[in-house]
Amino acid sequence: MSNPRENIIWHQATVTRARREQLNGHKSCVLWFTGLSGAGKSTLAHAVEERLHQLGYRTFVLDGDNVRHGLCSDLGFTESDRKENIRRIGEVAKLMMEAGLIVMTAFISPFRADREAVRNRMPHGDFLEIYCQASLEVCEARDVKGLYKRARAGEIKNYTGIDSPYEPPLKPELIVNTECLTLEESVGAVLRMLQERGVVQ
Ligand code: PPS
Repeated sequence: MSNPRENIIWHQATVTRARREQLNGHKSCVLWFTGLSGAGKSTLAHAVEERLHQLGYRTFVLDGDNVRHGLCSDLGFTESDRKENIRRIGEVAKLMMEAGLIVMTAFISPFRADREAVRNRMPHGDFLEIYCQASLEVCEARDVKGLYKRARAGEIKNYTGIDSPYEPPLKPELIVNTECLTLEESVGAVLRMLQERGVVQ
């Protein structure tokens, strides 16, 4: 039996990413925020988006909790489900980048290999990994959603940092220490990185 994928042929769009970027007046890329639950990924991604949007850049945030209500509603938190979660998000982020957007993703994405697999699907330099660094102690003390407490009580299994691992990036494009920096300072650090890379003016 033949592999069905052999019969699928890529259709090249005439409206290319380069033409979309030219129309938008800026480059597109993927900002991949990673870190423990409660490290501030979503807060920072949305604050960066707000700033970029006000400056006239075309953006979109893919957020863990939201995506798990739809695209990934069939997935849980086993290692293989997280891998598939990140694979899907990576593909969606890539499509959105090709559509000319500055895409921000806010997922724990705890496994290095899964993040690297997403990086390797993108053209070199388009995947910018941002490590939202905060210790487990601080994230647990914040416990915004009360889930650490429930994980410690054994009510939630495979909780990142408690009974499921988090592998910090070895060479992220940016580390934002959300224990030390204010939100405003963290946004500034991301914006500076985007300026240095010629994504924003
Ligand atoms: S992953 O690992 O990247 O697939 O996770 P993600 O899609 O980002 O989802 C993380 C949010 O789901 C809530 N939650 C859990 N997190 C970790 N482990 C377990 N078992 C779990 N169960 C529910 C948690 O609130 C995460 O939200 P954030 O925004 O990261 O705090």
